[in-house]
Amino acid sequence: MRPQVTLAYAQTLDGYIAASDGSSRWISGHASLLRTHSVRASHDAIMVGVGTVVADNPRLTVRLVQGRNPIRVIIDGRLRIPDDAAVIQPDMAAGTWIICGPDADVIRRRALTQRGVVVLPVAADPFMGGVHLTQALTVLGHRGIRSVMLEGGSRLITSMVRTRLVDRVAITIAPKLLGAGTSAIGGIGITTMADALTLTSVQSHRLDDDIWIEGSVRYE
Ligand SMILES: NC(=O)c1ccc[n+]([C@@H]2O[C@H](COP(=O)([O-])OP(=O)(O)OC[C@H]3O[C@@H](n4cnc5c(N)ncnc54)[C@H](OP(=O)(O)O)[C@@H]3O)[C@@H](O)[C@H]2O)c1
Repeated sequence: MRPQVTLAYAQTLDGYIAASDGSSRWISGHASLLRTHSVRASHDAIMVGVGTVVADNPRLTVRLVQGRNPIRVIIDGRLRIPDDAAVIQPDMAAGTWIICGPDADVIRRRALTQRGVVVLPVAADPFMGGVHLTQALTVLGHRGIRSVMLEGGSRLITSMVRTRLVDRVAITIAPKLLGAGTSAIGGIGITTMADALTLTSVQSHRLDDDIWIEGSVRYE
């Protein structure tokens, strides 16, 4: 059985998760960050694409709250994660799993494994390219992961929503405008309002100046 997936990210009022220069720190305020860490602690795994690791070098921990660090899952088809990425340093490597494609370099794979990282190859997606995300989630399920918090970035979010693998959404909206930048979600094949994915059981909270809105995704 595949794990339940919660999509969680911070966006500006006009829908961007990063500025044109790739920076995304910090879109939301401290209260939202605390909330993100506490939601992380309630999931078995946090998932990001390798583009986010390259851009932000995140630690993907729950260091701001009490709780257990989830497994860090990086979707990295070609194992291009930088050697100095925080999530593969000696203090963190054992809790990091990298899901790669079938053609990832064997020597690179061995080097990462020797650091203590778990490397899990899956098939390529024959239609959209990249890692086969349904298979990736199935592999995580077989390893005991029941819940995943998907935190970005744009390309991985888009693929996951397009493949209908996102069950819940929890978005922080910050009162900032960028005018241009990286949209949270790209094209997912919807061209008319009647087909918009709609959330159910919606709840919202004010976190200082930010708004946190969450709900379940209804796929017709
Ligand atoms: N505001 C927020 O909450 C937030 C959160 C996270 C990230 N961000 C921002 O998002 C930006 C990074 O986003 P991004 O789109 O460049 O990178 P990304 O979505 O983190 O990673 C995308 C990469 O993952 C790999 N991948 C493998 N299989 C894939 C698949 N099936 N679908 C999609 N990707 C797959 C691809 O690299 P290979 O082809 O090499 O495998 C792809 O280029 C940064 O600017 C970061 O700051 C913002």
